[in-house]
Amino acid sequence: MDQTHVKNSIVQSPETRRRIILFPLPFQGHSNPMFQLANILHTQGFNITIIHTQFNSPNHSTYPHFHFRSINDQFSEVDHLRSTNRDPSFYVKYLNRSCEDPFRNCLIDLLDEEPVACLISDAMFYFTQGIADDLKLVRMVLRTSSLGCAIGYGAVPFSKEGRFNLTKQDPGYEASVPEYPLIKGKDMLKIAVNPEGYGDLVANMLKQMKASSGLIWNTIKELEEPELETINQDFQVPSFTLGPFHKHFPAPSSSSIKQDRDILSWLDTQPPKSVIYTSFGSVARITDLEFQEVAYGLANTSSPFLWVVRPGMVLGFEWIESLSEKFMESVGDRGRIVKWCPQQEVLAHPATGCFWTHNGWNSTLESICEGVPMICSPCFVDQPIIARYAGDVWKIGILLEDGFERVGIAKAIERIMMDKDGEEMRKRVIRLKEKVNLSLDEGGSSNESLKSLVAYISSL
Ligand code: UDX
Repeated sequence: MDQTHVKNSIVQSPETRRRIILFPLPFQGHSNPMFQLANILHTQGFNITIIHTQFNSPNHSTYPHFHFRSINDQFSEVDHLRSTNRDPSFYVKYLNRSCEDPFRNCLIDLLDEEPVACLISDAMFYFTQGIADDLKLVRMVLRTSSLGCAIGYGAVPFSKEGRFNLTKQDPGYEASVPEYPLIKGKDMLKIAVNPEGYGDLVANMLKQMKASSGLIWNTIKELEEPELETINQDFQVPSFTLGPFHKHFPAPSSSSIKQDRDILSWLDTQPPKSVIYTSFGSVARITDLEFQEVAYGLANTSSPFLWVVRPGMVLGFEWIESLSEKFMESVGDRGRIVKWCPQQEVLAHPATGCFWTHNGWNSTLESICEGVPMICSPCFVDQPIIARYAGDVWKIGILLEDGFERVGIAKAIERIMMDKDGEEMRKRVIRLKEKVNLSLDEGGSSNESLKSLVAYISSL
């Protein structure tokens, strides 16, 4: 992993070092960027304390340079529902209630021990603003998704009746959403399985982001310039765009699933830009029907593929036991299926030709950083918005408009791997990659934004 991009270092004397408390949301797509941010701030001379839930507790020995405090989140009381309840807002809202008292007590103890510069909490832990206000502690926010998504969330009509139960026959299904024309009616069904619950979560998150003292984003100004202007106008608190975090500081894998690193030697044997890398992230789950469509979509092309299937990703199955022997035989050595892989290294590998992704924000950024065009299969929450950006705004990916359906999948693979169209997408994403690299250099926007953040926190 290239760490040479960290060319700026505002050196602080030990006397001026101050403590920052960080509070990650305990899901990988959120905690990874929070730990990367913690490392970035540590290299800038700050002392780091992480308050974390018992659920998905981080491995303390991976971060010997941080202090840790664990709080009792009572999550075990509802965690058993996760195999049946597909509404993510339920869990996040539960944690916002169950963490309130233990978090407050933990913070009071920490503030008794030494002065603290600020709290940085995940934006989805919106309850922390009230506690920070009570304790007269400055709260900043890390929002782990895109600027475009924050704008989209503010515009999506969560409370409008009839918007979340469209069927394919309804005219609004394929039409743009009037309040937010970037997305279509059908995207709304994916953004929220429980519109009331998710709308409530989003409203609380945005309100407490506006009440905070600053917003930290894992994005790059050059990627989302008009969106940054809108956010600056709408939120009225300073925004710091110092992404992509993983290029400042790669995070060790925080997944409980072991990475399959042998796959890198298999990639070494494949021709340049030939392999379709397929992964739908750390949370999304699909039905067996969808799973079979993905499988035959991949099998029906001539390209080699690497497919990450997390244990439990297919609803009702442990792993890949529903794939037929006929499928396995037809694929042979052309395809590899693994439980987890070193994704950033796979994307950076010369053999990787495209990324078939769910468009989680980390995966999308990682693909851009390696100049890899995408096939987009958003599953839920912010992913449909990010996928529209990839397909329609940046034009670096093909969105599978009909979802998981083998004929459409095979066509998209052919378009991206063989057609001129795909070649244009590849050129555009490589141009974006170059802009990202420049932003990290001395004088570049992310580099400058990090300096501003350090100066801002030091001035608190
Ligand atoms: C969740 C939400 O689903 C997403 O919409 C939101 O933007 C962040 O939180 P997740 O499903 O975890 O995200 O996806 P993503 O944000 O893309 O993060 C996945 C991370 O897992 C990436 O950093 C990726 O490199 C890593 N990964 C994935 C691996 O290291 N190995 C794998 O095999 C697959």
